[in-house]
Amino acid sequence: MNDVVIVGGGTIGLSIGFELVREGTPVTIFERGTAGRGTSWQAAGMLAPDAEIGFEELELYRLNRESLRRWPDFASRVEGASGIDVDYRDEGTLIVADDRDSAEALRRLYGFQQEQGLDVEWLTGEDAREIEPFVAPRLSAAIYSSTDHQVDNRQLLRALRVAFEAEGGTLHEDTPVEAVLPDEDAPAVRTEDDTRVEASRIVVASGVWSRELGGLTPDAQPPVRPVKGQMIQLQRKPPFDLQHVIRGPDAYLAPKSNGRIVVGATSEEMGFDTTVTAGGLYDLLEGAWEVVPGIYDLPVEDTWAGLRPASRDHAPLLGETSVPGVIMATGHYRHGILLTPVTAEEIANLVRTGETSSWLEPFSPMRFSDAQSPHSLA
Ligand code: FAD
Ligand code: GLY
Repeated sequence: MNDVVIVGGGTIGLSIGFELVREGTPVTIFERGTAGRGTSWQAAGMLAPDAEIGFEELELYRLNRESLRRWPDFASRVEGASGIDVDYRDEGTLIVADDRDSAEALRRLYGFQQEQGLDVEWLTGEDAREIEPFVAPRLSAAIYSSTDHQVDNRQLLRALRVAFEAEGGTLHEDTPVEAVLPDEDAPAVRTEDDTRVEASRIVVASGVWSRELGGLTPDAQPPVRPVKGQMIQLQRKPPFDLQHVIRGPDAYLAPKSNGRIVVGATSEEMGFDTTVTAGGLYDLLEGAWEVVPGIYDLPVEDTWAGLRPASRDHAPLLGETSVPGVIMATGHYRHGILLTPVTAEEIANLVRTGETSSWLEPFSPMRFSDAQSPHSLA
């Protein structure tokens, strides 16, 4: 039997591969660079459906929530197969306001979260400081989401790579796929050195670069564009400490167990530009300092910019395409780490059974090519 071929070794490609091989389906992943060093490496690792709920994105919220529910089991499986801790942290998230305008916005968010039945709690600034002593004394209010968790995405990628190979998966790095070669009976891919590799199915998991893959008909090309996010990594230094993810009006801080504190992120429509700018860093540092002033003395370890793969409706593209043999798993935008378990399990199930589950149905890639679909007008 030909292997399932996955194009792209980020959190999405590696996790789908892992779920398939551990159930006995042979898989080859082609990665054009180093596996796990694309957008997934640049992320903050927050698993935050409640904090990131969008007023008009309730279908996506349900998927995010379902994926969060699956995270603990998924983390145990990956850790078990790899022997690497992914730093799943369940202290929760504080969404904070630092002036009258942001308190009003926070109140609106809280009202909406309550309408939707979310398990969130309204706190005064003083309550928030009891939970997290290093938040700013002048904070007026906060929402505590005890169920918005986080992982260390870099540990996750190390673990997924080891787990995938340990279960028998084949990973070819530095091997760009130039094109998919659609065929109902024998789909294939062509790599950069002109090798044709036949597959039982092809899964496109190339993140923000998915649209550039050759061989897809125009209506099957995923409408995915890059949304740039600049980030800063600080290093925790006693007596400063932080246990919860803090989300302020202009920046978030995600503390990892190894001392990394990830501060993010800008949101910029700049094409594939990944320049780190003075203005981006200034905005992030100011936004983070306003809600957690104790960061002032912390060492800056790194800065970078990543590219979120955003579709036209900001929801992922998951499932069969109009091209025979080609399945799409891309467009995860701000939630790709959060959506890893549900994407991996449901796409693996689709590959094995040919059945599209009810979790995947609303996210069919064909919603953008179907003339009947309202999304095609977007
Ligand atoms: P990638 O990790 O980019 O993997 C795609 C891979 O495909 C790459 O390794 C690439 O080299 C490879 N590839 C591309 N083309 C080819 C080809 N032709 N042949 C072979 N290989 C190819 N999400 C969350 O859930 N929580 C967060 O806190 C969070 N924070 C974020 C912060 C920032 C600043 C950014 C930018 C994103 C954040 N995200 C977050 C979003 C998340 O990072 C993405 O949704 C997710 O990483 C997408 O994963 P992926 O596997 O599709 O993409
Ligand atoms: N989900 C966090 C970000 O995209 O910046």
